[in-house]
Amino acid sequence: MKNIKKVFPGVVALEGVNLKIEEGKVLALLGENGAGKSTLIKILSGLYKPDGGQIFMDDKEIEIKDVNHANGFGISTIYQELSLCPNLSVAANIFALDEPTRFGIIDDREMEKRTKTLLNELGIDITPDVLIKDLSISNQQMIEIAKGLSKNPRIIIMDEPTSALSNKETEILFKIIRKLKSEGKSIIYISHRMEELYEIADDVTVLRDGKYIGTVKISETASDELVKMMVGREMDKFYPHKDFKYLKDERLLVIENYNKENFYNDINLYLRPGEILGLYGLMGSGRTEIGQGIFGILKKDSGEMYIHGKKVKVENPLDAIEHRIAFVTEDRKNEGLVLSGTVQENITMANIGKLLNRFRFIDSRKETRITEKHVDNLRIKTPSVHQIVNKLSGGNQQKIVLSKWFEIEPEILILDEPTRGIDVGAKFEIYKLMIQLAEKGVGIIMISSDLPEILNVSDRLLVIDRNQIVAELDPKDTTQEKIMTYITGKGEIDGERY
Ligand SMILES: Nc1ncnc2c1ncn2[C@@H]1O[C@H](COP(=O)(O)OP(=O)(O)OP(=O)(O)O)[C@@H](O)[C@H]1O
Ligand SMILES: [Mg+2]
Repeated sequence: MKNIKKVFPGVVALEGVNLKIEEGKVLALLGENGAGKSTLIKILSGLYKPDGGQIFMDDKEIEIKDVNHANGFGISTIYQELSLCPNLSVAANIFALDEPTRFGIIDDREMEKRTKTLLNELGIDITPDVLIKDLSISNQQMIEIAKGLSKNPRIIIMDEPTSALSNKETEILFKIIRKLKSEGKSIIYISHRMEELYEIADDVTVLRDGKYIGTVKISETASDELVKMMVGREMDKFYPHKDFKYLKDERLLVIENYNKENFYNDINLYLRPGEILGLYGLMGSGRTEIGQGIFGILKKDSGEMYIHGKKVKVENPLDAIEHRIAFVTEDRKNEGLVLSGTVQENITMANIGKLLNRFRFIDSRKETRITEKHVDNLRIKTPSVHQIVNKLSGGNQQKIVLSKWFEIEPEILILDEPTRGIDVGAKFEIYKLMIQLAEKGVGIIMISSDLPEILNVSDRLLVIDRNQIVAELDPKDTTQEKIMTYITGKGEIDGERY
């Protein structure tokens, strides 16, 4: 791709961007949220038409008219946001619009057979006839990947494929990528996880603000060099300093003997004002469910909650919000955002009451002021506060989910994987905001599967395994290896047994 340009109303998404991929190579695409990565690959996959530039394949200039046309060139894309039909089976999704037929009728048995073979080959343990909506997000992502590979492409584009995968699934994916490479296929790989790039990529192309910064060999480039290319400045540290563990040695929140069969058992925990409590566990350990239990989405069978020492009843999210508990979910597309709403509507919707003026009308100037404050704080890249959220880049959508909950000024804030899909610069801003909230006395529970993050950001750490709390640790006084020794149930981390 040479000198590519793409303009959206109010945004120059790409200008003068180049991309070159060889056979049997993995090219990583790196850049901050909103840098233009997804836009560039959407042009290659036929979803968008470029406003300038040229595309060559095998040294011949081509024009990619639409998605089918791109498929015809052997270009297959696995998108950042899941694009599966929730009410259809795994097999029907993989073969959507391309089903095998017998006498003009879709041959279900053949379709299931082929799906099974494909999934087997990829080492994915899912049955073809289950409905997509009954799968976890990470399994849905694996199906999305299988679907992309079902067309036997020459160029495979993966836009943040691992942001919803567990360590083990990521390993499976990397095995698949290595196999594709050895078959001479080309892979374009987008990820905000730098350590992954060092494991899987050959070259890295860096974009910043829609512009081409350069392409380097990963084996010859240190990670701080990459970060510098990406954010345009030196970043000497990735975690801001929090100089207190908690504000007062009081119990802001106490959870006593929380139980829900098959989801969480015997949960006992407390949270102090100003404290960041980390909940670490692998995908499937029950860490999210504990958060959902506290927030009342996954209602407990038994157990008590106390806030400031007073027994309270939180049986659903409305009760929770009334007690100033907020919960930022990891599934932003389904639970966190109204995609057809504007940036402003999304940020202020959880807190409409605060915006009503004395005539009970929404004070829209105030609404805009509040929104602009968040847009500045988290550096949300949008042409205006009235932009439709759907049109923002993936990471910027995540920042809006966070702003929405920061805005209701909770006293207890539960964050589930808050920095998934967020670039290094914005992660720093989010940690800083968390510290600012803590300074005001907010207690924060941060659920994360990112070990370096949880070790650096939390003041106290609970390790979750098989739906239970298995250890309480001081993050300043522990190591990644030590934490893993508590997680014995799965027996396997990154392919290694513990
Ligand atoms: N359909 C659209 N309409 C208007 N603006 C858009 C559209 N798609 C993308 N943009 C804008 O173009 C810019 C680049 O977005 P893009 O999605 O390519 O970023 P990205 O590098 O993939 O970011 P992320 O890491 O957050 O996924 C952003 O400012 C985004 O808001
Ligand atoms: Mg993107």
